[in-house]
Amino acid sequence: MLDWAQGVMSGPAIRESVKTLAELSGLFRDQRAYAAMNPEREIYRVRVWAPVSAGEEGGLFWGVTLLQPGKVGDEYFMTHGHFHVNRTRAEYYATVAGQGMLMRMNGQRTTWGEAMAPGTIHYIRGEHAHRVVNVGTEPLIFWACWGSDAGYHYGAIRELGFGAAVVERDGKPAIVPCE
Ligand SMILES: [Fe+2]
Repeated sequence: MLDWAQGVMSGPAIRESVKTLAELSGLFRDQRAYAAMNPEREIYRVRVWAPVSAGEEGGLFWGVTLLQPGKVGDEYFMTHGHFHVNRTRAEYYATVAGQGMLMRMNGQRTTWGEAMAPGTIHYIRGEHAHRVVNVGTEPLIFWACWGSDAGYHYGAIRELGFGAAVVERDGKPAIVPCE
C-alpha cells in the first residue's frame, strides 16, 4: 500500500533505511560547519520495495525518498548520489512534495541541475550520476523506479564528488562549480 503524498509504503516486503549526517562525511564543502553538527541527524530516509533480488536482470525496484530540509554551512542537505554500475540502466524520479534540485553529471563531470517540485517527473539516463538536493523548507518527497540490475556505484562520488554544489546565495539556491 502507498500513501503517495506522505511518501509512505507499508507491507512486509518494504525495507526502510536512514542516512544520517555521519554517513555523508566528506561530501559537504564546509567541513567546519559539518563537524559542529549532530552526526546522528537524519538527512534522508528511503523506503524500497524490491520484488526481486538485487542484480537480477530485467526486474524493477520501486522506492520513495524523504529528504529533510537543512544546510551544512550554506550547502543544502542532499543525498549521497551515485552512478549506476550498469550505465545502460535508467531511472524515473517523480516528486510529490517539497522543492528540490536534481543534480546530474555525465562521464566528463559536466554537472547541471533540474528543478524538482510537486508534479515534476524526471527520466535519468543510465550514464548520468544523480543526486537530489532539498532547496526548500519542507521535506522533499520523491518516488523512484529503477532497474534491479542497475547497481549503485558510490565510490566515484565519494572520491571526486559532483562537478557543482547547490548553495544558498542571497536567500536563493545557486549552483556553483566545485574546484
Ligand atoms: Fe539511481
